[in-house]
Amino acid sequence: MQFIINNIKELVGVENEPKLLLKGKEMSNLEIIPDAFILISDGVIADFGSSDSSDYKSYVNSNNYKMIDAGGGHVFPSFCDSHTHLVYPASREIEYIDKIKGLSYEEIAKRGGGILNSAQKMQHASEEELYESAWHRLEEIADFGTGAVEIKSGYGLTTDSELKMLRVIRKLKEKSSLSIKSTFLGAHAVPLEYRGRQTEYVDLIINEMIPMVASEELADFIDVFCDKGFFTVEDTDRILNAGMKYGLRPKIHANELARSGGIQVGVKYNALSVDHLEYTEEEEIEALLNSDTMPTILPGAAFFLNMPYSPARKMIDAGLPVAMASDFNPGSSPSGNMQLILSMASILYRMTPEEGINATTLNGAYAMDLSHELGSIAKGKIANLFITQPIPNIAYMPYYYGTNKISKTILNGILR
Ligand code: NIG
Ligand code: FE
Repeated sequence: MQFIINNIKELVGVENEPKLLLKGKEMSNLEIIPDAFILISDGVIADFGSSDSSDYKSYVNSNNYKMIDAGGGHVFPSFCDSHTHLVYPASREIEYIDKIKGLSYEEIAKRGGGILNSAQKMQHASEEELYESAWHRLEEIADFGTGAVEIKSGYGLTTDSELKMLRVIRKLKEKSSLSIKSTFLGAHAVPLEYRGRQTEYVDLIINEMIPMVASEELADFIDVFCDKGFFTVEDTDRILNAGMKYGLRPKIHANELARSGGIQVGVKYNALSVDHLEYTEEEEIEALLNSDTMPTILPGAAFFLNMPYSPARKMIDAGLPVAMASDFNPGSSPSGNMQLILSMASILYRMTPEEGINATTLNGAYAMDLSHELGSIAKGKIANLFITQPIPNIAYMPYYYGTNKISKTILNGILR
């Protein structure tokens, strides 16, 4: 199927020489074509340019192409949300009330709430229920402009339940038009029955869970919550080492609650990304500068938990790339709205609209190992994009926060 989207006020995030990621000053580069068209053929971006161009005129004259009128809206590459936990059994708004009253994330976790609360409910949830509710969330984030998403296990914490979650993710991959990557996060919390015997739980992950996950080919990546009160650097080292033997590249939770050493151990194992990073100083920035690891900030979690904000400006000014993701989950970030994340990038982290857009598109795609085929408007990339309502310019996207500014979404070259 071939069609042209015309009457585009600005085509955003164009790349003639596609890059896999953007770092430091490059994060301000966001190419835009005013008064543009884009040609989509068999799910892929085949051509784009100005409506003044001779190419466009010959496409129109040939009468071979169906035209979709963008109505003077902007066209953006879809958001690439590289960190979510959107398969979960139930919401946790009761804990949220406790948080408002002053309990911290760690205190709730210590008394068996938080992740362990979700893990308990997970034991009784059927694959069908989990699939249905996650499907609904996927549709919701697609309506808000997300075209690719990573989803983690980690609310199972037993071999059976972790495999159950990953099978649900596999089914979502098969059925959904979003591009999906899956991550095994058995090391999300230590189950109550292993309290005081944490090493034995790590042994279970290494000796039983990882081999089973790998033999069913259920995960693309492996994750560990390496932080104060959760898993230590030593645990993380052992788990990542075991995962790498099965070809599972790490993407880890690091430095959300303290300077945990998580960033350094992630870099040591060539993690695709290290995520959260609220507690990041010179030493961590230095480690990241000499790596291929994408520092990924999760503004929704810091905002929702009222935590310190990761030093995004400092990282970019030091020459690092930054990706931003939603962390969509029932405990620390119950929203997968990437338009809101883009607004937070500027409001809370002082990133320019250009930096924010690159952080939530191309750099997010890199953090899922998808930037060769997604994350920008480039010939040959998968046609995942959205058309906005008429807006004055790109700055309006983060500025006019909290509403859905999208009028149409296209995934794999198909209008939804
Ligand atoms: O990324 N920090 C660890 N894990 C999730 C929270 C999961 C939960 O509370 O359910 C996060 O914020
Ligand atoms: Fe997370």
